[in-house]
Amino acid sequence: IARSLSNATLQSERYDFGIAFDIDGVILRGRTPIGGSPEALRKLYDDSGSLRIPYLFLTNGGGIPESRRAQELTRILGVDILPLQVVQGHSPFKNLLNRYENELIVTVGKGEPATVMSEYGFRKTLSIDEYSSCFNDIDPLAPYKHWFTEQPFLKNNRPEVMQTKYNVLSDKVKAAFVVSDPVDWSRDIQVLCDILQSGGLPGKGVGDPQPALYFAADDLEYQAAFPCERLGMGAFRIALESIYNRIHHPPLKYTSYGKPNPSVFKNAEVILKQLQSYILEKQEEEIHELETIYMIGDNPSVDINGVQQTGKPWFSILTRTGVFRENGNHAQFPADLVIDTVEEAVDYILRKES
Ligand code: G3P
Ligand code: MG
Repeated sequence: IARSLSNATLQSERYDFGIAFDIDGVILRGRTPIGGSPEALRKLYDDSGSLRIPYLFLTNGGGIPESRRAQELTRILGVDILPLQVVQGHSPFKNLLNRYENELIVTVGKGEPATVMSEYGFRKTLSIDEYSSCFNDIDPLAPYKHWFTEQPFLKNNRPEVMQTKYNVLSDKVKAAFVVSDPVDWSRDIQVLCDILQSGGLPGKGVGDPQPALYFAADDLEYQAAFPCERLGMGAFRIALESIYNRIHHPPLKYTSYGKPNPSVFKNAEVILKQLQSYILEKQEEEIHELETIYMIGDNPSVDINGVQQTGKPWFSILTRTGVFRENGNHAQFPADLVIDTVEEAVDYILRKES
């Protein structure tokens, strides 16, 4: 951090504000920058490319470690982004390390969910792909899933039972973590129901207590590359919960993280203060309170709702490049400001703060 911020120059500007950027529908659609996002971000650096305004990304997405996401964003957006500046839906899972550090946990979602959790320090992690492949016939639809035919563990189009370093027949799963958007909903719902209703040992009948279940976020829909919204982790949660509650009593217990939980915004505030201190200490300037933190989001019920629940010093800006496309403001979760693009939002902030 010090290296990247070492040349920060401060002129006669105010540095008592920070910015949190949503990613999907504000900065990117799929992997493509939108709304002038590269230009907008460049305005937050000085001429030598050093950070001059504290900002971070606050996304409910994820699936790869924050350090790798920072590299990916740096490549796509053309500015030097630090791992500290990337807060993903699953980032708070690291706070559960004390509880599950040495317990067997199953991780679900696109990308590399088990790697994400291992990097947080969890020692016994298996992806649901690896875990499922340890059980013969756990997914009766697997032979029809042609996309699996390239997987090394398939023999004659039938999953071969894998050996893992853990004995899944006797080692109970203590928790399942939905780290990112699930890929194979039918298999994942089936295997999660097996884990949860058996007390962590699928195929061994019904057992108590239900292993813990954590979701990184609860977005019903989000904006990806397709012209209209895609079903998100919240949609998967509804599907799993509805089915589980029809086949099992007591009902499913779970915890969801991510925006709009105020704790996510409070944590972002702590990180923005750290970034502000790095910038100001280099200049031997006094540290100020952050008077305003701008959240630039596209989803009223997630980004704007979260800001409303958190209150000061947050200020919400809603763009029209993602989930929200209407004229005027959102009826249920009106933003403090509605604007077309992220670049216009940054221009507004810099004007207001200069
Ligand atoms: O899967 C990603 C989605 O849930 C939302 O991401 O960046 O709009 O919070 P974002
Ligand atoms: Mg979004």
